[in-house]
Amino acid sequence: MSNLIITGGSRLSGIIEVPGAKNAVLPVLAATLLNNGISILENCPELDDVLTMLEILSALGCKIQKKGSRIEIDASSLTSSSIPEQLAKRMRSSIIILGAVLARCKEVLICYPGGCEIGMRPIDMHLKALKQMGAEIDGLKHGMLRVKADNLQGCEILLDYPSVGATENIMLAACAAEGETIIRNAAKEPEIEDLQEFLVNLGVNVAGGGTGVVRIKGRGEIKTESVHKIIPDRIVAGTYLSAAAAVGGSIVLTGVEYDHIGSIIYYLRRAGCKIKNYAGGVVTIESDGAINALDLVRTSPYPGFPTDMQPQLVALLARAKGTSVIVETVFENRFRYTEQLQKMGSDINVQGRTAIIRGVDRLKGASVEARDLRGGAALIIAGLAAEGETTISQAGYIDRGYERVENVLSKVGAKIRRVED
Ligand code: UD1
Repeated sequence: MSNLIITGGSRLSGIIEVPGAKNAVLPVLAATLLNNGISILENCPELDDVLTMLEILSALGCKIQKKGSRIEIDASSLTSSSIPEQLAKRMRSSIIILGAVLARCKEVLICYPGGCEIGMRPIDMHLKALKQMGAEIDGLKHGMLRVKADNLQGCEILLDYPSVGATENIMLAACAAEGETIIRNAAKEPEIEDLQEFLVNLGVNVAGGGTGVVRIKGRGEIKTESVHKIIPDRIVAGTYLSAAAAVGGSIVLTGVEYDHIGSIIYYLRRAGCKIKNYAGGVVTIESDGAINALDLVRTSPYPGFPTDMQPQLVALLARAKGTSVIVETVFENRFRYTEQLQKMGSDINVQGRTAIIRGVDRLKGASVEARDLRGGAALIIAGLAAEGETTISQAGYIDRGYERVENVLSKVGAKIRRVED
């Protein structure tokens, strides 16, 4: 893996174009399996996880052409319903392929996803719902899972928690189910709405995506051609806004969906940043680098403050005037990166799911290690705001969610470069 080397203190100024959302393109790529023809996806981010998903689709028999952010997937002749173990293990979210393969092939062989850097990430809700729809699920040796369903049946499903992945998997499986499937307490994330839009373009009868109740009528006629543009990445937008807030400067973001980042902007404004929204997906931020503490921020499902922005907000608040408290309610183990921030001189006390952040006057550069994607992004933000040089090892984690992060930030004035190990 490579290292990112940052010399902190340079104000940021310029324009950043926000790419398509990783968490939207992955389920939509899975959904292209429902199209017995060609799907064209535009605005796809160029990320390792996207390449892994394309490798999975190839292994199932899809023919793929990729030109920059445009991907064409021909799923007209599938040859397999087994997800190669080494690919599934590379990306925990490969589980979102389950519902789509089941819908298309009536059978899936996939390895059970283990825990990951930010928590256990079980799939009990996915499996319970598929069972309710009539799927047979067998746990095999070596952590493999076989799911079979000759005749999926629509039904009412009440999720115990609005899980994003479970909502997506059920929506995809429901496309092949007889009758109507109703998902109650569904996740409301914008990525669900994007998946719905792709499915509607394909001819699927689905409504309610983005609300707590999603209804899908299965087994309708599916078109064999579809073009879809992926929504902008709200977490990437929030990360670059936080970077500008932390080090100071004025940045223009383009290609943003303002509503999707409402909760992020809410807290950045309370922290002291001036943020404006313009027509055509343009958002500007101005910050003098002075940050107010925030009394209490709780992560929660959309439209609450996203867990995927929690580490970046903590990095920003590390230099705030006063003490901030952040409670992580979504994942149980998402504060590990704070150990690395401590090396940079921050004062963060983690007790269970709560982090108490006492703002310090200055952070200092240090050698730190990225251990997960968003924790890695937090280290970049801290490094940009710190005095001196920060080396972030294991930068490959960051590449899973940010396209060429060093190029994007260098263009707006950051001193950041990549050095291969
Ligand atoms: C998705 C996002 C991830 C984001 C998360 C929460 C993708 C590819 N990833 O992950 O970036 O951080 O939403 O916004 O879109 N849970 C269970 N049982 C289940 C499923 C989930 O207990 O069967 C728990 C999880 O452990 C977690 C919570 O529910 O504590 C939320 O998880 P979920 O919404 O499913 O997240 P993902 O879809 O994995």
